[in-house]
Amino acid sequence: MLSAIILAAGKGTRMKSELPKVLHPVAGKAMVAHVIDAARGAGAAQIVVVYGHGGELLPERLGADGTDLTFARQEVLNGTAKAVEAALPALRGECRDVLILCGDTPLVDQELLREFFEQHRQQGSVVSILSSQIDQPGSYGRIVRDGQGRVIAIVEARDATVGQRAINEVNSGIYAVQRSFLAEALPAVGSDNAQGEYYLPDIVSIAVARGLPVEALVTGDFTKTLGVNSRAELAQAGQLLYERTCRRLMDEGVSILDPRSTYIETDVQVGVDTVIYPNVYLEKGTRVGRNCLIRQGCTLIASSLGDGCTLKDGCYLEEASVGAHSSLGPYAHLRPQSVLAEEVKIGNFVEIKKATVGARSKASHLTYIGDATVGCDVNIGCGTITCNYDGFDKHVTVLEDGVFVGSDTQLVAPVRVGRNAMVAAGTTVTRDVPAESLVISRNEQKVVEGWATRFRRQKQKK
Ligand code: UD1
Ligand code: CA
Repeated sequence: MLSAIILAAGKGTRMKSELPKVLHPVAGKAMVAHVIDAARGAGAAQIVVVYGHGGELLPERLGADGTDLTFARQEVLNGTAKAVEAALPALRGECRDVLILCGDTPLVDQELLREFFEQHRQQGSVVSILSSQIDQPGSYGRIVRDGQGRVIAIVEARDATVGQRAINEVNSGIYAVQRSFLAEALPAVGSDNAQGEYYLPDIVSIAVARGLPVEALVTGDFTKTLGVNSRAELAQAGQLLYERTCRRLMDEGVSILDPRSTYIETDVQVGVDTVIYPNVYLEKGTRVGRNCLIRQGCTLIASSLGDGCTLKDGCYLEEASVGAHSSLGPYAHLRPQSVLAEEVKIGNFVEIKKATVGARSKASHLTYIGDATVGCDVNIGCGTITCNYDGFDKHVTVLEDGVFVGSDTQLVAPVRVGRNAMVAAGTTVTRDVPAESLVISRNEQKVVEGWATRFRRQKQKK
């Protein structure tokens, strides 16, 4: 059984934030949630998240589900070794080795963790560290090796000698450790260092002193273990994650005009031959079908698009669902619970909320449809408004199949327009309209011949 501990109790001082660092979103999801997902994906049967700073915010936001995810509180935030110590009592069942991760490395993926853990097991080490080679080792802990290349210690940047600081192999903060050794070694870790904290990496020199096998496995891709400690690193991690998702989708057959300005979250699905223009945001599990065209500046949140849809510039969709071969925009706004069937056409400056729209229906310009059921083959003219709100309650408008709504119509809900009925332009519909009829509510037109000429003459005399 694979057990994982995720360290997430720290304040993240360098972020200069009220929010605990690991809850800051990266590509739409809390940093630590990415790490939890990677651990799960790697097959962890239990995951213990160590929290502390920010009180109960972490368990509240992440939601202990009581199955694989549990939380352990670190009372005093005095270092990563103490954080692991706080997690140990929460480990249940048989596990020989424990995978230890940091909540601030959101780019780790399940393949890397699985491979690392597998190697640790095969080599039979007591402690394995995932390390990487970087040009600018900055604030990372340095992996110190002896003349034979054996790992002998990890030294934090602040405690390193000038010579050690020049080492390019750094500690990723990802470890695999024998559980029994952890229990013995952690109490032996001291705090005699620049920060006066109990450093988890010190278990390396403790193991070495006892003649136990320690290995550092070098990952080829440093970006996967990038630690986020500042806002600049937060932005960098977000960009890398968006880039990675775009790359995956392009490999799967999606065209992305400019991956650097396309923001697709990791849990989004896009079908083959869909083309995505710049400045598009696809968020919160959005699903896009095949052969769609999404032009610039569209945002889709928890929404779905069927195959062959076109979104012209600037559409905003939230919890909306659009049937195949529909066309939206430019500048259409679909609010939650908008459900459009196939081949629907929604044009510019049309807002839809909590409404179903049947196949082939059209609202091409400047319209509000809220709390409505619109049938098939309905044509909604320019400037139509469902008056759904009386200041206290919301009311429903029903337009049955084949209805034709003329321009500048108000539908005062609750109201129903029957099958194939026609609403004359400029009508205010206040009562139900039977099928196949015409409804018209406007004053008879009156023409006064010559009136304009007389009016102008009178004015010009003055
Ligand atoms: C740590 C490592 C460093 C490594 C780097 C990789 C230590 C002492 N140093 O440094 O060798 O190169 O990660 O990114 O471990 N945390 C707690 N409780 C605490 C302190 C920290 O849970 O008392 C958590 C933090 O929330 C964070 C993680 O541990 O998620 C790492 O802490 P951080 O302060 O970011 O350590 P680094 O200085 O980055
Ligand atoms: Ca860190």
